[in-house]
Amino acid sequence: MPTPIKTAKLTIDDKSYDLPMYAPTVGPDVLDIGKLYGQADVFTFDPGFTSTAACESTITYIDGDKGELLYRGYPIEQLAEQSHHLEVCYLLLYGELPNKEQMIDFENRVTRHTMVHEQMHNFFRGFRRDAHPMATMVGVVGAMSAFYHDSTDINDPWQREVAAIRMIAKIPTIAAMAYKYSVGQPFVYPKNDLSYAGNFLRMCFSVPAEEYVVNPILEKAMDRIMMLHADHEQNASTSTVRLAGSSGANPFACIAAGIACLWGPAHGGANQACLEMLREIGTVDRIPEFIARAKDKNDPFRLMGFGHRVYKNFDPRAKVMKQSADEVLDLLGIHDNETLKVAKELERIALEDPYFIEKKLYPNVDFYSGIILEAMGFPTAMFTPIFALSRAVGWIAQWKEMISDPAGKIGRPRQLYVGAPKRDYVAVEGR
Ligand code: CMC
Repeated sequence: MPTPIKTAKLTIDDKSYDLPMYAPTVGPDVLDIGKLYGQADVFTFDPGFTSTAACESTITYIDGDKGELLYRGYPIEQLAEQSHHLEVCYLLLYGELPNKEQMIDFENRVTRHTMVHEQMHNFFRGFRRDAHPMATMVGVVGAMSAFYHDSTDINDPWQREVAAIRMIAKIPTIAAMAYKYSVGQPFVYPKNDLSYAGNFLRMCFSVPAEEYVVNPILEKAMDRIMMLHADHEQNASTSTVRLAGSSGANPFACIAAGIACLWGPAHGGANQACLEMLREIGTVDRIPEFIARAKDKNDPFRLMGFGHRVYKNFDPRAKVMKQSADEVLDLLGIHDNETLKVAKELERIALEDPYFIEKKLYPNVDFYSGIILEAMGFPTAMFTPIFALSRAVGWIAQWKEMISDPAGKIGRPRQLYVGAPKRDYVAVEGR
């Protein structure tokens, strides 16, 4: 439990209540309302958790006004430039950057777990070929608790560690298998002399009939996408993982729940939705029509890939991703593609439009990631699975942090009940 730095006073009618306040390392002070219900018989109301900190955490920090994202204190821009995804995984999991020996040891541990249980191939075959790869991933990751039962005892620190390594190691294999299955190609086994990102590209794009050589620029871009998505504080899917885990559920089940949450278009599903929107717009001359729709209060349409709950200045991940997108498109010689033209013009117009400026709606990470992934040859249905496999480390690091907290308890929000008050049952003849 943190030590209070001061006390806030809440007055309801003629009674006052002292509420402890805590100081974070950085960021706004936090008001502890945990005992309020017991003392004052009131709940607090914050749908969407816009003002509510649900846990203590040491992993990731976001300053939405400054457009700052820190993993364990390190700015995302520095990590994206100088680190690589497996090193970031180590950092998120253990709190510090590894030395050389620690890195080699970690890479070995992850690499030794990249294959999935052979029986899982049969499990995949139970899905329809046209299943969305996210649907397959929710099922297969959930099923890991059946295949790897020996790492589901959450009270055993060693099993928790094995579960974390298995999750990070196997999720690219699972995502690639979901893709291969959907296109009717044979599964490709992992190749452990490749990098984490290179291995994933090969598992997606190689076929037994041909040699596949990983392109280093695409490999670097893939690795960056992974790093940029690795963690993002207490977002919807991470909070889902924590809430599921707070009941004592095993980590594979919790992460399956996180994947399900990520799938929604307001969250990780936005990368797929964004590219589909760009295609639907089709040509630059149709952009004004869609901008008008986005502003129309009576139209549910939103510009996908724009806006963020926390970032109100810019999304630092989007900046790095935009640069990566330029590199990849250059490498692949894609300059004239119609979707890209629409994306560039939409970005330009939205950044100048008073509606978007006033509401602080900037392109987010999903706006650019879809463009890169499409250029790499991924179908839109694979965009969100790639987000999921990149976020797996964040989910498991947050889950481990939660389980190790001795003060942890089951998450159980309350409500503002606005339904019928108590009433008597009426037999059907009397209704
Ligand atoms: N297009 C048009 N208007 C928008 C958009 C948008 N993309 N996003 C927000 N607004 C408007 C919204 O209509 C509202 O207007 P008003 O105040 O007049 O009612 C105002 O901006 C605030 O919106 P909100 O829904 O209260 O904001 P939120 O913080 O609850 O939502 C968001 C954040 C990301 C869900 C939302 O901006 C959105 O739906 N964006 C599109 C989906 C998207 O790109 N999601 C990916 C987020 S980044 C990756 C990730 O973390 O998963």
